[in-house]
Amino acid sequence: MDFKAADPIINALQERAMQGIYGYTSRPIEYFEAIKKWQLEKNNWEVDTSLMSHALGVLPMLANLMHTFLEKGDKVIIQPPVFHEFKNVIEAWGGEVVTNQLIENNGRYYIDFDDLRNKAKQGAKFMIVCNPHNPVGRVWSKEELEASFLMRRAFNSRKSEEAVERIIELFRKTKNNAEFVQVVKKTKIV
Ligand SMILES: Cc1ncc(COP(=O)(O)O)c(C=O)c1O
Repeated sequence: MDFKAADPIINALQERAMQGIYGYTSRPIEYFEAIKKWQLEKNNWEVDTSLMSHALGVLPMLANLMHTFLEKGDKVIIQPPVFHEFKNVIEAWGGEVVTNQLIENNGRYYIDFDDLRNKAKQGAKFMIVCNPHNPVGRVWSKEELEASFLMRRAFNSRKSEEAVERIIELFRKTKNNAEFVQVVKKTKIV
């Protein structure tokens, strides 16, 4: 499903098209500085403009990332129900889709960390995190993101199986994700 763009967007595009010069696509530093200013004002996040890069879309950028970091046939985790094109872009590139199904509870969706552990254990090297998550409408909490990141890092850093098992054990024992993150950080396992 898609929505018609707002009139100011349509007008700005028409105005730009009427200029009739389409040849160059470089972006001046002001373009990145405007993004930096917006992030600082809205999210209190100071982004380093030298780390920014323009992408022609989310899907082309995902394909670029897989091309840069993975080998053909590598496993990539997605969390259905999720934007269907993620599966297509992985398969089109030559990766293997691995699913970590979200859990629904009273209309709200949660990450299944036990399953994520198992899938990561089966050798998945890459995970596409969709945030906000289309179509379930979740914005993942800082703790959920940190818990996912720590778990992924434990596998990627080639830590021993034992360290990974310890992380899972702590995940089960702690009351919530925030406590889990705190406890794991203290143990310095990852
Ligand atoms: C989660 C998500 N990612 C990516 C896209 C498509 O992004 P793009 O057109 O920038 O490739 C959509 C479109 O609905 C989406 O829902």
